[in-house]
Amino acid sequence: MYKIAVIPGDGTGPEVAREAVKVLGAAADACGFKYESTEFDFGGDRFLATDEVLPDSAVTELRGFDAILLGAIGHPDVKPGILEKGILLRLRFELDLYINLRPVKLYPGVETPLAGKGPDDIDFVVVRENTEGLYAGAGGFLKQGTPDEIAVQESINTRKGVERCLRYAFEFTRKRNRGNTLTLCGKTNVLTYAFDMWERAFNEIGETEFPAIKRDYAHVDATCMWMVKNPEWFDVIVTDNMFGDIITDLGAMVQGGMGIAAGGNINPESVSMFEPIGGSAPKYTGKGVINPMAAISSCQMMLSHLGEDEAADRVERAIVHVLSNKLESMSAGAMGYSTSEVGDLVGEAVANPPA
Ligand code: IPM
Ligand code: MN
Repeated sequence: MYKIAVIPGDGTGPEVAREAVKVLGAAADACGFKYESTEFDFGGDRFLATDEVLPDSAVTELRGFDAILLGAIGHPDVKPGILEKGILLRLRFELDLYINLRPVKLYPGVETPLAGKGPDDIDFVVVRENTEGLYAGAGGFLKQGTPDEIAVQESINTRKGVERCLRYAFEFTRKRNRGNTLTLCGKTNVLTYAFDMWERAFNEIGETEFPAIKRDYAHVDATCMWMVKNPEWFDVIVTDNMFGDIITDLGAMVQGGMGIAAGGNINPESVSMFEPIGGSAPKYTGKGVINPMAAISSCQMMLSHLGEDEAADRVERAIVHVLSNKLESMSAGAMGYSTSEVGDLVGEAVANPPA
């Protein structure tokens, strides 16, 4: 019996989370596992009503679950940063979700803006460090608000933090067993301290612990170029928090848009949290037009993380079926179906896998 925490969150978050839970139910019925879901109302509305972003007890309570499914965080009436830092980033830090795993996979039937590229060319995974770097919050103001103001924002890179991320990435590349190539994405020509350490650790760990994995390196700017020009060159990319944030938005576009891009915030030893990588899309809220595929894909990643491989596989095949035979577009309002109809279609395909 899995205990799943659901944080629907803001905007279209609840609409997409509902469809992810629907598909989870279909997978449980089809594969014979049991789960119990508990909903938490963290988000903008709760904050506006109670002034509380995330109660301290929440973090402790969430540790008692097997996994967390998150819809979206970000509310138009709340100053940017409060909810993102107070909920999403706080959970990433306090639950020590040190890996942000973001597959960039073009499914058949999904349009990519890259001319001449298809599903065979676009299938790689970004392993983003998720608890350090520029996101650590180190820095501050001096003489704030004066003409002499100074703002410092530092990137924190610990040897331990870098090593555990790299080991996860090497291990992941080995298990994936596709190209057996891990690319370190950095900026060793300018960030000569942080990425010097990343590069040394990368080569040391690779050489001694993962000799069968081919090591590659690309600067972050070049990575952006190759992701567009030759995405087929990538198998697994490992990078720091900030670069990972940026290149995975590019990755999301390459794989067909925010409607389809999923991710997992992972602590390999403890509870992990799965979320669509797009935001709360306030302008589509409550209209039933948002694409829930990214949330459904996140649910598939969760099943795979829980070791429910058969269920994960069934959900992925259902997603592929619906994407290639049903949806007219990945964009909100243009799918040819409502949000909940898309969830129904995937659920049906999970229950009765099409030949
Ligand atoms: C993401 C988001 C978050 C991030 C924001 C909402 C804090 O952009 O998950 O990629 O920067 O990590
Ligand atoms: Mn982002």
